[in-house]
Amino acid sequence: MNILLVGSGGREHALAWKIAQSPLLTRLVMAPGNPGMAALGEVAPVKVTDVAGLVALAREMAADLVVIGPESAVEAGLADALVAAGVPCFGPSQAAGQLESSKAFTKAFAERHGLPTGAYVVCDEAAAAKAALDGFSPPYVIKADGLAAGKGVVIAPTRAEAEAAIDDTLGGRFGAAGARVVIEEFLEGEIGSLFALCDGKTSMVFGHAQDHKRAYDGEKGPNTGGMGTYAPAPLFTDELVDQVRRQLAEPTFAAIAAEGAPYRGVLFVEFMATREGPRLVEFNVRFGDPECQVLMLRLESDLVPYLMACAKGELDRLPPPAWRNEAAVCVVMAAEGYPDAPVAGAPITGTDQALGDGVVVFHAGTSKDADGTLRVAGGRVLNVCALGTDFSAARQAAYAAVNQIHMPGGFYRSDIGWRALNPVSYTHLRAHETEADL
Ligand code: GLY
Repeated sequence: MNILLVGSGGREHALAWKIAQSPLLTRLVMAPGNPGMAALGEVAPVKVTDVAGLVALAREMAADLVVIGPESAVEAGLADALVAAGVPCFGPSQAAGQLESSKAFTKAFAERHGLPTGAYVVCDEAAAAKAALDGFSPPYVIKADGLAAGKGVVIAPTRAEAEAAIDDTLGGRFGAAGARVVIEEFLEGEIGSLFALCDGKTSMVFGHAQDHKRAYDGEKGPNTGGMGTYAPAPLFTDELVDQVRRQLAEPTFAAIAAEGAPYRGVLFVEFMATREGPRLVEFNVRFGDPECQVLMLRLESDLVPYLMACAKGELDRLPPPAWRNEAAVCVVMAAEGYPDAPVAGAPITGTDQALGDGVVVFHAGTSKDADGTLRVAGGRVLNVCALGTDFSAARQAAYAAVNQIHMPGGFYRSDIGWRALNPVSYTHLRAHETEADL
């Protein structure tokens, strides 16, 4: 089977790593890929939003399947163009992709279809947005409406900070993505990431993980795309997985199909486990990054049949995926200045020395000089991942690997998975407890 994988981050490196293990694979082309992915197949210098270029590449290589990694390609309408060209594609249409590309769309969608979520207001003008804060209590949740690589969210403890975030967002910090601001009720509880596949009709849960969104230890600092993940997380009891599937994932697939945009691909349900049950935080229309990295390490089944089944409407022919018993941990190594102003160019050494039993280093933001020197070329640079017999073993192995890698000015969080070391039952959260207190 010839597969074209679209993307260039750690998520796509993890997908490529798993796809490359499939006995069904003949040829893997990655566009544009990264230096780590280049070891797994061919890379082609086509941008993820170059829809015409990617369709031409898919045709030229006689792709049997195109796998879309990032949301920007979904927003650009890549799946629509591939389907029109008769190329099977894993990834939703632009219309279904609004579940991520517009937070205002998603909140209105949730309201229309009775999905449990928090209250919200959408504004495109600062004075109205500031007045709307009267209807909320601190901490205030201020979000850019459009795609902002996970950085368009501010949890503001005070009204002054909320007003500053509104000015910042509507003032152009995120470009067109911040033309509207969404103010949301702060949901108390523990956050989780659940993934579900859908082929337009049939759906199935496809793993779950927990991420750390804040840049620094102790859940401090600005929001990021994610600084580290682990799976399985104690939060995910069978009961909770079932609730998220029945109350959020399945109704969403039914509703988006009823609205004329059947969903094909993976839906990432980001939810808050509250005392009242799971509440939708937001949807993403692709695998999480870096959630995908720990999912791929733990996935025992061949990934390719599941991707193909979503593209072809054949998910009902497959059993639920099998997962390894081991735990997986991913630690993100980020560039100096991430997320606000990442500094590129620092040399990276030690990635080979870091490798060991069960350890994989995925590239997320790297470049390679002609002489082979690896350099920082993005905000999140490396994803150092490890499998272990249990969570502690996986965590120890991941940090031992991190310690082998040198990246001047870079940083990482040293507390990935702290909740797994001190699990609390979400059903027993006390009224005053929040993410920050736990
Ligand atoms: N790790 C969260 C995200 O992929 O948006």
